[in-house]
Amino acid sequence: MGVNLKGRHLLSMLDFSTDEILAVLDTARALKAKRGAIEACSKLPLKDKTLAMIFQKPSLRTRVSFETGMTLLGGHAIYLAPTDISLGKRETTEDIALVLSRYVDIIMARVFGHNIVVDLAKSATVPVINGLSDYEHPCQIMADLLTVMERKGRLKGLKGCYIGDGNNVCHSLMFGAARVGMHFTAITPEGYEPQREVVQIAEKAGAATGAKMTVTSDLQAARGADMVYTDVWASMGQESEAEARKKIFKDYRIDEKTMKLADKDCVILHCLPAHYGDEIDYATSRLPNSAIFDQAENRMWTQNAVMLHLLGAA
Ligand code: CP
Ligand code: NVA
Repeated sequence: MGVNLKGRHLLSMLDFSTDEILAVLDTARALKAKRGAIEACSKLPLKDKTLAMIFQKPSLRTRVSFETGMTLLGGHAIYLAPTDISLGKRETTEDIALVLSRYVDIIMARVFGHNIVVDLAKSATVPVINGLSDYEHPCQIMADLLTVMERKGRLKGLKGCYIGDGNNVCHSLMFGAARVGMHFTAITPEGYEPQREVVQIAEKAGAATGAKMTVTSDLQAARGADMVYTDVWASMGQESEAEARKKIFKDYRIDEKTMKLADKDCVILHCLPAHYGDEIDYATSRLPNSAIFDQAENRMWTQNAVMLHLLGAA
């Protein structure tokens, strides 16, 4: 697939077309298969390249997978903690983007407001990757699509189901499913659905690939699912709502009951971190159908693929 993503940004799963997503997944698969070869290779593809990683929120996977990934590709990553640059307080987003663009080759940012990654991308002269905003988490969904592909051998025509809060992960998953032709059902308590605008855009994108988008509060909608996915009930920044949400979300979880409804070969996904006993029970998370740690590993391979493509080195 001859796609050219050089100089582009990844802020949303919608930023890449179907072919572009599939090309990135192909590159990620090749990187994963050749891990040893990359380590042994003297001509490292991102030698002398630097990634700046801006964090307004905590992280395990995003930080470590980007930093390790950059090392494997021969480049260097700089971690900028929330207090290091105090985005929006010490300096404007525009100035941060302009200054970083004079030093580094690519920027990844984990932020609260999605407008911050949009603003970074507007001013930066280097590619910007959204490492999670309150609205989307595209890096996660790239890894999830690779994981489902590994387990099921295809994406198109599968029945994907998300149970829980209609949050950033749910939004990106809906967009990603629409792009790759996977039917998608978001099962959420009333009032916690994915944003209406997201559903409308995903429906449109899905119409082009044959993917049907559904939003419901009915847990029975997980019947026959090829993939079930969940995420925390209260996201970063919603800590004060956590107790109240426990009551509202108590049935919106992946457990034995869900697995009885789903297809017997259903893949279980969770972006992690998990709150065992809430959105997923521990035993279910450890079933052979569970791919939650493959997802975590695949963050690195898919992000490496994204960086290679955005830097024109794929
Ligand atoms: N899934 C994910 O983004 O994990 P971190 O918050 O640990 O980066
Ligand atoms: N929805 C979660 C995802 C964490 C990776 C959050 O935003 O905190």
